[in-house]
This record gives sequence, structure tokens and C-alpha cells, in this order.
Amino acid sequence: MADIRIKFCGVDFDNPFILPSGIITEIPEHKRAIDNGVGGVTLKSLTFEKREGNPLPRVWKFDCGMINSVGLRNAGIEKGSDEIKTFLDENKGIPIIVSLFATKIKEFLLLVEKIVPLKPHFIELNLSCPNVDDEFGKSLGMEKGAAGEIVRAVKKISGKVPVLAKLSPNVNDITDIAKSCESEGANGIVAINTVGPGMIIDLTKKKPILGAKKGGVSGPAILPVAVRCVYEIYDAVKIPVIGMGGVTKWQDVVEMIMAGATLVGVGTATYLKGMKIYSQLKQELNEYLQKENIKNLKELVGVAHNLS
Ligand SMILES: Cc1cc2nc3c(=O)[nH]c(=O)nc-3n(C[C@H](O)[C@H](O)[C@H](O)COP(=O)(O)O)c2cc1C
Repeated sequence: MADIRIKFCGVDFDNPFILPSGIITEIPEHKRAIDNGVGGVTLKSLTFEKREGNPLPRVWKFDCGMINSVGLRNAGIEKGSDEIKTFLDENKGIPIIVSLFATKIKEFLLLVEKIVPLKPHFIELNLSCPNVDDEFGKSLGMEKGAAGEIVRAVKKISGKVPVLAKLSPNVNDITDIAKSCESEGANGIVAINTVGPGMIIDLTKKKPILGAKKGGVSGPAILPVAVRCVYEIYDAVKIPVIGMGGVTKWQDVVEMIMAGATLVGVGTATYLKGMKIYSQLKQELNEYLQKENIKNLKELVGVAHNLS
């Protein structure tokens, strides 16, 4: 057997597979991924105020992926932090990433203040949500100055909890933003959030399918964009990267790791293939490593850069 355990920011993961934020909405339900052998779990992004989310339908499958405009449906900080505390207490054996979203630095800080005492393994700053634009204007962290400012402010109060910056691919140069986050103290980068926004038209109703009309695209359609982003970020920064976006097969996992991902998020694929995908990918990754005579997964991280 090859060793697929891996360290990320000093935290031990049993395997490199992560449940990305928002794939499951209700906090207690995230346990389903753990029961299916995932290496780490990112909780649904939490906002200060409770959010009902966008009008239905919010999620739609198409031939090569999914489009969603959930609009950050969540319980808000008061109820949400209680639920997160319970979840952390009940699932101590596995790294848990708490994802936060805000539209003002002050609000990010209020969220971080509330979450740090709960001692999650990581805080992830969602600097990239595409589904709240209409309400708030462009997401706060999609510009390098703002992204860096948020990270700097958060790092002042995050204590020992490592801070990850989750980036959007829908920008001119993702490496500029990654570098800015790194220089302000981010401990890792998560790439990518959904691509777009996109739109699908319902031919019968002759109008856009999603209640919010447009939404972020995820799943197999976005894999090459995600791999390119991870590759460029790996070149641009020294902090480790969680790669995600369209991973559904073991070949995609290997590609993502070769591009530079230490951990790999598998989200939309759980809608397409079920939660059992985590145990299947673990087995197939192991078989690949054995066949290639690679004893330890970390040897594979970033190898696509060696030959270029
Ligand atoms: C239904 C749905 C809801 C999502 N909600 C969030 C969210 O709350 N916060 C966030 O940072 N990303 C959210 N995402 C983006 C995912 O975490 C991930 O970055 C993206 O889907 C790409 O990975 P995938 O192709 O494996 O799903 C959501 C994605 C989907 C499909």
C-alpha cells in the first residue's frame, strides 16, 4: 500500500480528499462525508446575518456539471456558531475547515472572533462567492488589495488557527490575489470557487432555469480552469494549495496533485456519483501510486512543474 496520508499547514490528514464548502447545507449533515471516508470537511459558508438564499430552483445539473445560485443560504452567526461548536465537539478525529463569508472587513472580524474560540482546524475566508453579486456588488475579495486587507485584519485576531483564502477563478490574474493573501499572512490557498456566472435556459418555459437566473458553474466542465489556476498559484506562492473544481475521477485527482494541490476538494461529483466517491477515489489513487512505484503521496505534489 502507498501512503496517502498528508500534512497540510501542519495538520495531519488521513487522505487528501476534502468536502468543499456548500456541497452540504445543514451543518449536522456534513457528517455524511466523514462516514464515507473523506479526509477533511469544509462547512457551508457562514455569514453574519441569517440568509434564506436565492429563489428556487437554486441548483441544476447539466451534461457536464452543475450550475448553482444558492446565495449563501445559512443560519447566520448566532445559531450557526452553536451548530458548528456541536459539530466540532462530535467529530474530533477529522480536520474541519470553517468557511466564512462577509461583505465588509468588520463583519469578517466579527465572524472570526466568534469562531476562533471554537478552535476549528482552519478558517477559510470565502473571498469569492459569485452568487451574491446582485445584492452586494462584486465579492469583496476578488480584488488583490481588498483580499490582502481582509487576510491582514483576520490574521491579527485568528491566533493559532490557520487561515485559508478561497479564491475565484473569475478574475484577470488569480496569482496576483494569491500573492497578496500570502504576503498578508494567509497559511494556504483554496482554488477554485465556481466559474461564471453562467446561465441555462429552460426551453419549455422560455426563461432561465435558475430562480436567480444566473449561477456558478461547477463539476467536470470546469476541471481545466481549476487545474490551470492551481498550477499558476503553485508557481506564484510558497504556501500550500487545496485544489478543487470538477474532480470526479482518479485521473482528475492525479492531475490536480501534479499541478500543485496538496489536498483535493471533491464536491459536485458527490451529487453525480454519491458520497461513496471518497472511498472509491482513495482506493484508485492508492492503486495508481503503487503502479507508479510512488511510496508517499507527497512525492507527487507539483511534479508537473519539474519538466516545464
Ligand atoms: C451547491 C453549491 C453550493 C456551494 N456553496 C459554497 C459556499 O457556501 N461557499 C464556498 O466557498 N463555495 C461554495 N461552493 C463552491 C464549492 O465549494 C467548490 O469550490 C466548487 O463547487 C468547485 O468544486 P466542484 O466542481 O468539485 O464542486 C458551492 C458549490 C455548489 C455546487
